Amino acid sequence: MPVPGPGYSITVRVEAPPSASAAGDLTSAVGRVGGVITAFDVVESHSDRVVVDITCNAMSANHARDITDAIEALPGVAVRKVSDRTFLMHLGGKIEVTAKVALRNRDDLSRAYTPGVARICQAIAENPDDARRLTIKRNTVAVVTDGSAVLGLGNLGPAAALPVMEGKAALFKKFAGVDAWPVCLDTQDTEEIIRAVELIAPVYGGINLEDIAAPRCFEIEARLREKLDIPVFHDDQHGTAICVVAALRNALRVVGKDMADCKIVVCGVGAAGSAIIRLLLQRGPADVVAVDIDGIVNRDRRNMDANLAWVAQNTNRDNQTGRLHDALVGADVFIGVSAPNLFGAAQVATMAKGAVVFALANPDPEIDPVEAHQHAAVVATGRSDYPNQINNVLAFPGVFRGLLDAQAKTITDAMLLAAADAIADTVDGDRLNPSFIVPSVFDAAVAPAVADAVRKAAQA
Ligand SMILES: NC(=O)c1ccc[n+]([C@@H]2O[C@H](COP(=O)([O-])OP(=O)(O)OC[C@H]3O[C@@H](n4cnc5c(N)ncnc54)[C@H](O)[C@@H]3O)[C@@H](O)[C@H]2O)c1
Repeated sequence: MPVPGPGYSITVRVEAPPSASAAGDLTSAVGRVGGVITAFDVVESHSDRVVVDITCNAMSANHARDITDAIEALPGVAVRKVSDRTFLMHLGGKIEVTAKVALRNRDDLSRAYTPGVARICQAIAENPDDARRLTIKRNTVAVVTDGSAVLGLGNLGPAAALPVMEGKAALFKKFAGVDAWPVCLDTQDTEEIIRAVELIAPVYGGINLEDIAAPRCFEIEARLREKLDIPVFHDDQHGTAICVVAALRNALRVVGKDMADCKIVVCGVGAAGSAIIRLLLQRGPADVVAVDIDGIVNRDRRNMDANLAWVAQNTNRDNQTGRLHDALVGADVFIGVSAPNLFGAAQVATMAKGAVVFALANPDPEIDPVEAHQHAAVVATGRSDYPNQINNVLAFPGVFRGLLDAQAKTITDAMLLAAADAIADTVDGDRLNPSFIVPSVFDAAVAPAVADAVRKAAQA
């Protein structure tokens, strides 16, 4: 199922004979083993040899090695160097701090720093609200992680989580002009995390929690929301929920169904699934049936934690029991945030007519989207190489832009739903179709629309 992509892009520097067929031989060798060439540059030309850089996309690190081997096997060809373009992009990190004020002379220094800055400090000491007017707090968000659930890779710890947090900070800046900074904490103790965030909070206008494992993430977020006077938002929960609710609104427009008539199966009741269920319930579906690794969540299940007990109490109208395949029978919508390859076309065939399937487990979805399409009317995944990518980038930059602009102290479900509607509304009737239920992440209209909706909801 994987296809060559820029995530596994390499540049191979090779020395080849200067024959007329050299370029053709090299590109054919790459093509034969399934590599996709994106650039071919002659770096040096001599009477006895040429040196070229072949840049190509691969499917995996192993596939990249196969491509290099195929090039090396050509007669008279020598591979000088292989560069992994993704590693090159990360050399020295992806973000930096730049000064917004000029520091050209003594005059500038005296105002930006001492002695002038002292008067700013005194003003804030007298009126703490001035921090939002006179410091970076106005536009700055902490991206906080303990590294316990990094992407789909598991508990990699704080240092290994940093490239993700840097990327997140870069996205905040690019899409919404928000200055975000990674805070990777060297602890996975709930109390220590809460205390650490509490201690750094004065600098920030908002806290974005990231890649913190369930169920710890629920308590950390709830306790920080109680303690802090700035919004606390766990993106893996609420960013996902916003995007799913937005996508579902448009998918139901495509199939001509009302939320109030829909039975929705949500598979995965971790960070993402729990938040999706809670936000979906605000939209009044006919029923939500939650499924996790132990089967359908029902009120007779034993030993449930607080999160699962809440889900059991608030979903599954008929207290159905069984496995995922049982839940799917007659369902209008499947939303998966769980694990790869859980069902196939045969189970989609048992769903209601005009079925909607969101298979969001990353990198491999709950069902192969091509198989899902055999019976479903609308299919979405978390992947960029299929239509309808459900990607949190649609939500979090605009959400924080709106929160910062409103100088919000909290975040509410009304704001999350306003963000979801703003995303859904950027796909107008002319563009809406089964393969286009969410806007592109590069649609410049999305973040401002989300920001505006969140700001209005925060000021309501
Ligand atoms: N925008 C997106 O596309 C997006 C957003 C968030 C999460 N995700 C994906 O969703 C998945 C879950 O993320 P999370 O942070 O909620 O993880 P999590 O670990 O907090 O929760 C995982 C849940 O899946 C359930 N589960 C695991 N194996 C299962 C199985 N075989 N059958 C049924 N349920 C099973 C677990 O019981 C648990 O409830 C990941 O693959 C993640 O990449 C995608």
